[in-house]
Amino acid sequence: MAFSDRFLDEIRARAGLAERIARKVKLTKRGREYSGLCPFHNEKTPSFTVNEAKGFFHCFGCGAHGDVIGFVMRTENLSFPEAVERLADEVGLEVPVSSPEERARAEQAVSLYAVTEKACAWFESELKSPRGEAAREYLANRGLDEETIARFRIGYAPDTRHGLKTALSGNGVTESLLVTAGLLIVPEDGRASYDRFRGRVIFPIFDRRGRPVAFGGRILGDGTPKYLNSPDTPLFQKGQLVYGWSHALQQARETDILVVTEGYMDVIALIRAGIPAMAPLGTALTESQMLALWRVVDEPVLAFDGDAAGGRAASRAAERALPLLAPGKSFRFVTLPRGEDPDSLVRARGARGMESLIASARPMADVIWDLETRGRAVDTPERRAAVEKALIARARGIADKQVQEYYVRDFRRRLREAFADFSPVSGARRRASANTGPESRRRLASDPLIGTEDGRADARERVLVATVLNHPDLLDDVAEEFAAAEIGSHELNSLRQAIVEAAAMGEAADAEALAKSLGARGFGRLVDALVGSQAQVLDWFARPGAGRGDALTGFRHALDLHVRGSGGTAELDACESAFARDPSEENWARLQAARQQLLEKSAHEDLVTDFGSGPKDSENA
Ligand code: UTP
Ligand code: MN
Repeated sequence: MAFSDRFLDEIRARAGLAERIARKVKLTKRGREYSGLCPFHNEKTPSFTVNEAKGFFHCFGCGAHGDVIGFVMRTENLSFPEAVERLADEVGLEVPVSSPEERARAEQAVSLYAVTEKACAWFESELKSPRGEAAREYLANRGLDEETIARFRIGYAPDTRHGLKTALSGNGVTESLLVTAGLLIVPEDGRASYDRFRGRVIFPIFDRRGRPVAFGGRILGDGTPKYLNSPDTPLFQKGQLVYGWSHALQQARETDILVVTEGYMDVIALIRAGIPAMAPLGTALTESQMLALWRVVDEPVLAFDGDAAGGRAASRAAERALPLLAPGKSFRFVTLPRGEDPDSLVRARGARGMESLIASARPMADVIWDLETRGRAVDTPERRAAVEKALIARARGIADKQVQEYYVRDFRRRLREAFADFSPVSGARRRASANTGPESRRRLASDPLIGTEDGRADARERVLVATVLNHPDLLDDVAEEFAAAEIGSHELNSLRQAIVEAAAMGEAADAEALAKSLGARGFGRLVDALVGSQAQVLDWFARPGAGRGDALTGFRHALDLHVRGSGGTAELDACESAFARDPSEENWARLQAARQQLLEKSAHEDLVTDFGSGPKDSENA
């Protein structure tokens, strides 16, 4: 046998049999064993069992039997040494060299590592050379200091076809090695190979042990593609590695915090700010990356951009992670304010800005709940049943039986609460407020408003839009402010844009005409939810019956609060860090003033919100 028993045992111990098998087979816990449908023959009732303690799987149907290595061999169609290498790589073990062929392969691998290391060093030196000036300037503009550049070994690929090729060739580095390492491109028409990375800032991608194995090149400024990555090579499979691993691992384990972002720059900015972070490499998180992240912390926080694409990415990540959940293992989700990514957020608001987002991260179950309920009509028993069915089906997709059970319970509880308003009992069991017309009577009180600061901002945004829906003639006075107001909710923001457009086309003469025009633009349901007969009770000035003067004053007031709401805490943050840097009298006074202002603002706001007679959102949510 080429590998020592000790080495193989180490692999078996680290790889985790059930965890590995659960990627392919939906396993159910039965006593000490797991069981599921056998992946090696066709069957309808489970005869495939996994015994984690003894370290083997066995199928009573077809007789398939083996350990984790055998499982990988069979399912991925690999030879024994290949399966061992695959697993060793996944669990971060170095394959010891033994047989001649393996030694040859290992030698090649070593020289590939040597090649990528040389390339990394060359890119670094190019950045420091006169040719690297524009790149240095670019990095400086993005706020990266020399220490960070050195720590992440950021470099520059000059804009020439044979820079790297010429510099690295020789001394045992052959053209074919450079091609295998993904550093040269070979044209199909037989012409000479040339540098893959040209005129780009280079972010080396490190493997789990911190060796550069691949590169991401960013264009200086605008242009496409913005990032160009190494292709998959023997050293680099992009679905397996995670950017930032070797830089963030230790701190993540120590602090139990790990933020997963979409971009390289985000990882660098966060790690620099003292927040452990990692990112997949230009793709959505793969299952293998998710399992790897769970080996670092129990609940990595996935951070997504606050735009529509970010929202979709979050849903997809949640869908993909759901079946893999295990006791204690989950993800939490944060959505960045619109237009920000972690890099820009940290630059604007410091580590604290990100930390407060992390503190308010949403649990997985919330995200899945939203996925199946948002905007769904629940006004008939059949529709309510459909929502329930979809949710329970989601929960049943979780391979771990125990987690699955808790999800089912959690969803049923949420459904009970969400549907409570449908119960035939009225009056006594209802809330005291007489004229409540909760939105939830028609559709689930979805929260399409992620990405805003808090529920109060959500409510304000709704009131602002609803006021204009009921009083479109206000636009004569407030069109500009309305068009410019910061609206965090994607849905409301698109509705606002549609309103501005409709008004521009003269389709907002009165509320009815506006509603019709918006209906034609596909916003019928949203408009109805905001101002329809069953809509949430609105602040008085927003209602159709309010006089124009009241509506205008109320609108301006709400807008004012809203604008200050988004700016107020930033001011406080700035004052706090100024005081931390320089605890002078003057900075203390500024800090106190900012606190006082926020206090007054929130007191005032409570008054205003309470003035509207309806229940607040939270009561229906
Ligand atoms: P973003 O466009 O959000 O990147 O893409 P970013 O990191 O914020 O970029 P900067 O701040 O403008 O430099 C997120 C990630 O998607 C991959 C990269 O990994 C990037 O970091 N990507 C993006 C590509 O691979 N190719 C592209 O053309 C764009
Ligand atoms: Mn960015």
